[in-house]
Amino acid sequence: MAALVGFLMASLLLSCLVSTSYGVTFSSLQKTLVVSASHQQGKVLKAGEDKITVTWSYNNTFPAGMDSAYKTVKLKLCYAAISQQDRAWRKTDDKLEKDKTCQHNIVSRPYSPSNNNITWTVKKDIPTATYFIRAYAYNSADEEVAYGQNTDARKATNLFQIEAISGRHASLDIAAVCFSAFSVVSLFGFFFLERRKAKSAQLK
Ligand SMILES: *[C@@H]1O[C@H](CO)[C@@H](O)[C@H](O)[C@H]1NC(C)=O
Ligand SMILES: *[C@@H]1O[C@H](CO)[C@@H](O)[C@H](O)[C@H]1NC(C)=O
Repeated sequence: MAALVGFLMASLLLSCLVSTSYGVTFSSLQKTLVVSASHQQGKVLKAGEDKITVTWSYNNTFPAGMDSAYKTVKLKLCYAAISQQDRAWRKTDDKLEKDKTCQHNIVSRPYSPSNNNITWTVKKDIPTATYFIRAYAYNSADEEVAYGQNTDARKATNLFQIEAISGRHASLDIAAVCFSAFSVVSLFGFFFLERRKAKSAQLK
């Protein structure tokens, strides 16, 4: 009996320990990946149209074999500080589970130390903001184990802007509204003219 109680308590303790595991923090990751993107500094990319080419590789300054646990790499589009200001929903958190800096996935690939690149057309649903690109390496348990980014530690260099579709097509929408207003007016105009014609025909 005592053994059973002991066993139950031990399992309870163990499950508590497991469920309170803290997850991976960004500050615990080493920057072993080199990431670069093709954009020119300051260029504005149009969502749904423009492309960006990203290359990534293992930084060979680190010892060979340190990447033996890397299984996959995910490239993400991340908000620069200027686009996080006053926006709690894009806030950086050192606990990666809670971090909202990098919300848009670009691609997920099996890990390879070199010759990685992708030419990505900015997706249509990307909002207007200033961004950088980060790559996370994951182990077989799908936990982040390393990263790289195309900007410096302060997230200040090599940023680029994306312009959302909505802003761009606003003038087109205005034109569409004007055009339909014009059709309604002309419809009434014709109706009015027809009625006048009919009336004057009656008078004759
Ligand atoms: C590779 O890592 C070293 C050590 O962290 C760093 O000094 C160097 O700038 C990195 N190389 C590139 C191309 O980022
Ligand atoms: C780009 O990727 C292809 C394979 O997808 C590879 O053969 C090529 O070497 C890569 N180029 C660079 C510059 O990394």
